Amino acid sequence: MDSTTYCAILNFNVVFSATSATQRLWNLQTVHTQISWLQQLMETHRAHCLLLPYPVQGHLNPMLQFAKRLQHEGVKITFAITKFLFETVDEVSASISVETISDGYDEGANGIAMEIYFPRFQKVGSETLTELVLKLQDSGRPVDCIIYDAFLPWCLDVAKDLGVRAGVFFTQSCAVNNIYNHVHKGLLKLPLEESGVDIPGLPPLLASDLPSFVSNPGLYPASTQMFVHDQIENFEEADWIFFNTFYGLEEEVIHWMAKILPVKTIGPTIPSMYLEKRLEDDKQYCLNLFKPMTNACMSWLNERSISSVVYVSFGSLAELEVKQMEELAWGLRASSYYFLWVVRESESKKLPKDFVKETFGKGLIISWCPQLDVLAHKSIGCFITHCGWNSTLEALSLGVPMIAMPQWTDQSTNAKFVMDVWKMGIKAGPDEAGIVRRDAISQCIKLVMDGKKGQEISKHAKKWKDLARQAFDEGGSSDKNIKDFVSKLIQS
Ligand code: UDX
Repeated sequence: MDSTTYCAILNFNVVFSATSATQRLWNLQTVHTQISWLQQLMETHRAHCLLLPYPVQGHLNPMLQFAKRLQHEGVKITFAITKFLFETVDEVSASISVETISDGYDEGANGIAMEIYFPRFQKVGSETLTELVLKLQDSGRPVDCIIYDAFLPWCLDVAKDLGVRAGVFFTQSCAVNNIYNHVHKGLLKLPLEESGVDIPGLPPLLASDLPSFVSNPGLYPASTQMFVHDQIENFEEADWIFFNTFYGLEEEVIHWMAKILPVKTIGPTIPSMYLEKRLEDDKQYCLNLFKPMTNACMSWLNERSISSVVYVSFGSLAELEVKQMEELAWGLRASSYYFLWVVRESESKKLPKDFVKETFGKGLIISWCPQLDVLAHKSIGCFITHCGWNSTLEALSLGVPMIAMPQWTDQSTNAKFVMDVWKMGIKAGPDEAGIVRRDAISQCIKLVMDGKKGQEISKHAKKWKDLARQAFDEGGSSDKNIKDFVSKLIQS
């Protein structure tokens, strides 16, 4: 019995115990009918997909959402996470079946350099993924397709060795995938020789608009190899290529890439209740690596008036320089708005001394929040963001204006699109030392919160919110792509 079925039966029992005798008889029959319907569903799952995410928050969230969408289409899902994650997270509260593999660091990989972590994950991951697929096969649940994060390209070899079909899932934007593809194929040479580049399907880009692994490969040699070259190396050999974006958002570049590759856009991968609301109760991502301070932050927001709060977050990985943290703090204090700032525990020592005390009443600093609930709250007027791809998609889908402060990886490219293509925000520009100063921050807040710029952005916000929802409504581009994938999977 998988966990979905288990939860459903549990719910029926609760209904049963709370009713009268006649009602009980009727309920009993209903329970039987429902159980046999559920058993039938179990036996008639249309296919079985095993999904393997890269184990960080910004990659787990989109993969889990994709899993829920596939499950909604009748696909049986096994979500495979690392043993370390399985032991450390409270629970995966989505009703999907979870299994484990090993990345070679079952006690955690804190402090392990990426050039050590990735090869070990490949070796131990390949072995344990193979064991898992064989175990599922032996227990009568053969896997029809492995869907793996593009950061784990070795999964394709495992799938081929086992004779199982495979789909690669890119969690970043189509624009970024296109840039990496050009670099890997040698069409864009590194280090860059010009201050700007022209890439098909994309607007003209300055070097500073490109992902940091491309604009500054010398600074991140190992990451450039892994994230630019390795993830692109074999992806064209996968049976399916999924992108976490939607057609209306990146029309031009998707159209261009779709001419050369069979790409399927299946985003924005955010819970359905924030989009078209067809997946009942789908309100959370369901797997938190950090503990959200939900009550503290939501009750604080409930006391604030409409569009009076600046929400600030740099996602789950970015580490700000101490100087940058200080400038941001003083910029927030100087602005005339309230602020809600997520400062992860590991970053909190960088806050200026006495800042929390001095800004008491005006600001709330928390270590993690339920970001979707926060973005959807009426008190939020704008979002100072590092432009991680999930945060960007969430703000676009919920119509929240952004102030972009990209830090590294794909974020500069996302910030360029936020400002110049989607016109959903502005970028707070850094000085020559790479620091965004307090004045720039408070000016940006003023512009977005009460200037003409803010009104312009609000107009665009409605458009993106509608388009994001339409992508998942019946017949929308992402809905069609998911259905098309499922029907091909069960046909072949
Ligand atoms: C990383 C990369 O940095 C990003 O650029 C890439 O595109 C995906 O992987 P991360 O830096 O964590 O992710 O940022 P982001 O992509 O925005 O993902 C963070 C996720 O955590 C979002 O889904 C956001 O809703 C969630 N979050 C963030 C919370 O739930 N609570 C918080 O307090 C902060």
